[in-house]
Amino acid sequence: MLEKIKETTDFLESRGVKLPDAGIILGTGLGGLTRKISVEIEIDYREIKNFPVSTVDGHEGKLIYGNFGNKKIVALKGRFHYYEGYKTEEIAFPVRVLKYLGIKYLFLSNAAGGLNPDFEIGDIMIITDHINLIPNPLIGFNDNRIGPRFPDMGKAYDRELIEKATAIATRHGIKIHKGIYLATTGPTFETPAEYKHFRIIGADAVGMSTTPEVITARHMGLKCFAVSIITDLGVEGKIQFTTHESVIREAEKAEDRMTTIMTDLISSL
Ligand code: HPA
Repeated sequence: MLEKIKETTDFLESRGVKLPDAGIILGTGLGGLTRKISVEIEIDYREIKNFPVSTVDGHEGKLIYGNFGNKKIVALKGRFHYYEGYKTEEIAFPVRVLKYLGIKYLFLSNAAGGLNPDFEIGDIMIITDHINLIPNPLIGFNDNRIGPRFPDMGKAYDRELIEKATAIATRHGIKIHKGIYLATTGPTFETPAEYKHFRIIGADAVGMSTTPEVITARHMGLKCFAVSIITDLGVEGKIQFTTHESVIREAEKAEDRMTTIMTDLISSL
C-alpha cells in the first residue's frame, strides 16, 4: 500500500505538485469552488498513476493544484462513491495520497438530505459528527506506518475549525446549522420510513459520501472540516420527489456561500 501511495505522490511531485497545506474534496454540484483557485496544475484522474476514475454525472475527475485563500491546496474535483462499485480502499486511496503529499488539513463538502425539521433547502450544515453506515474503509490489513489499527473517532471533525467557520459565517451573515451527518451507501434516495429511522437514530442530514474520506483522514491524523448543503428534505410532510438533477441545482445555489466560508477558513490556517 505505502509503495503504491509513494508511486502516485512521486508522479504528482514530478508534475509540480509540491507541499500543499490542505486538501479539498468537492461534492455533487459544488465543483464551482475551483473557479476561485488560481490554478497552477490540473491533472485528469485518468492520467494519475493508481487513481480510480470517477463515473457519475456532475463529478468530473480532476486533481487541481494552486492557491486558494493564500494557501497551497490540492482539490479533488470528483470523488469516488461506494455506490459506484469502488472498493472502500479505492475510495480511501486519494486521501492517503494527499496526506503523503504533505497536507495537514482536509476540507470536504457534500450534498445531503435534511432530516432536522429546522432545516430548509439551500441551508448549510457544518458537520460536527457522523454516523457511518457505509462499510468502513479501514477494514482489512492495517499498515501501522500509516495509522493505528483502532483509530479514535471522538473528534472526527476539528473543533477549532468548526469554531472558526462559525465566526466566519456570522461575520458574512451566512446562516449555518451544525449537525450530525449520516452516510448511507445509496444509490437510492431514502423511503419516508428510512428518513424517519435516520432521524430517530440521531442524524440531522443524510448523504452518500464523506465518512469514508474522513475516517481515512483521521486514521492518518489529518484535521477535518466538512459541510453539507441541504438539497432536499427528508422531513415528514416536506418530502418531495428527489432527482440527481434537483440535488445538483440546489447545491449550486449554495455554492457561493460555502466557498466564502471555505476561503476564509483556509486563509486562517
Ligand atoms: N439522501 C441521500 N443522499 C442525498 C440526499 C438524500 O436525501 N440528498 C443529497 N444526497
